[in-house]
Amino acid sequence: MSAAVYLDHNATTVMDPRVLDAMLPHLGQPVNPTSRHGFGRAARHAINMAREQVAVAVGAHPSQVTFTSGGTEADNLAIKGIADTHTPSQIIVSAIEHPAVLKSAQALRWNGWQVTTTGVNVDGQLDLDQLQTALKQQSALVSVMTANNETGVLQDIAAIAELTKQRGALLHTDAVQALGKIPLDFNALGLHAMSVSGHKIHGPQGIGALILDKHVDIQCLQIGGGQERGLRSGTENVAAIVGFGLACELAMRELPQQATSLTSLQIQLENGLMDLGATIFGSRAPRLPNTSFFAFSDIDGETLVMALDRQGFFVASGSACSSDSVEPSHVLLAMGVTPDLARGAVRVSLGRDNTVAQVADFLLTLRMELTRMKRMTALAV
Ligand SMILES: Cc1ncc(COP(=O)(O)O)c(C=O)c1O
Repeated sequence: MSAAVYLDHNATTVMDPRVLDAMLPHLGQPVNPTSRHGFGRAARHAINMAREQVAVAVGAHPSQVTFTSGGTEADNLAIKGIADTHTPSQIIVSAIEHPAVLKSAQALRWNGWQVTTTGVNVDGQLDLDQLQTALKQQSALVSVMTANNETGVLQDIAAIAELTKQRGALLHTDAVQALGKIPLDFNALGLHAMSVSGHKIHGPQGIGALILDKHVDIQCLQIGGGQERGLRSGTENVAAIVGFGLACELAMRELPQQATSLTSLQIQLENGLMDLGATIFGSRAPRLPNTSFFAFSDIDGETLVMALDRQGFFVASGSACSSDSVEPSHVLLAMGVTPDLARGAVRVSLGRDNTVAQVADFLLTLRMELTRMKRMTALAV
């Protein structure tokens, strides 16, 4: 088998060698940014630089960046931390959120919160009428993701921000999949909180950030030494923070060129998929340039993913974050896809190292595997 072709960049990305190089010096020294001596001061300086790099990437001020252990913690901190400073009322989340948002919101029920889930249309975009109706009731917080991890569908965050502002609710967006793939502008959009993560943009795993409007009251989830202005106690992971900062800077610098080349690969891929008879979910909505989520009727997604794996193509079935589950994707069900078709779902998420030749090989292999699987099914009946 020739070298594997990685087509699962929404699950994680390989660390950029430039990022690794920037991190290494911080792993070989006793770096505690709270220390007053030279090592400590150097670490503090490195963190400040990284905070600026992250801030630039999301259109925020460095003082609005709180480092966390990743997107999951940023989502938890936003939802639970903001709720903790409010009298329980309503929290609104979209039906297609990542479990880090959905489960954080659901956990608030124990504290007397009403959790309202807003649906999406067949294209995977938030139903703004439903949101408006829900907002008639007193709501402290709304959480809608910028880009969906499964379909890549983008939400109209500007329109959602306008609606929430009119009703005096705070707006959090999970931008974990959007960072580095589309431009983000936290302050221009008037957002109150945004979650981002390092490992989706060729940075290290276990690092992310919550971007916060400075007028938002929030309660920390972990207490201790008061790091990150008291919002996230615990000795900072300096190497990971430095790596995340540089990954943000590189992603921003390379975004225009990446967006162009990924878009043309996506067109090549999806033309081929449609020739093979695939249904491409969310294809009529604005989407990330790297994500294609599709299914073929009467073909099981898990089986197809394993068949492709044997041929050296690494793709995901359903959402990679819940790949131990055989339940059809909650995102597809929310879009009105039948459970049968949803069970066939396969996600290809392209990355900067993928090529035209790889996409062509993938399509050829897919055609071969589909023919083989259909023949097996025919023999079995
Ligand atoms: C939309 C979204 N939010 C949150 C997360 C969790 O981020 P992390 O892996 O950094 O905890 C993911 C990871 O796949 C994601 O896709």
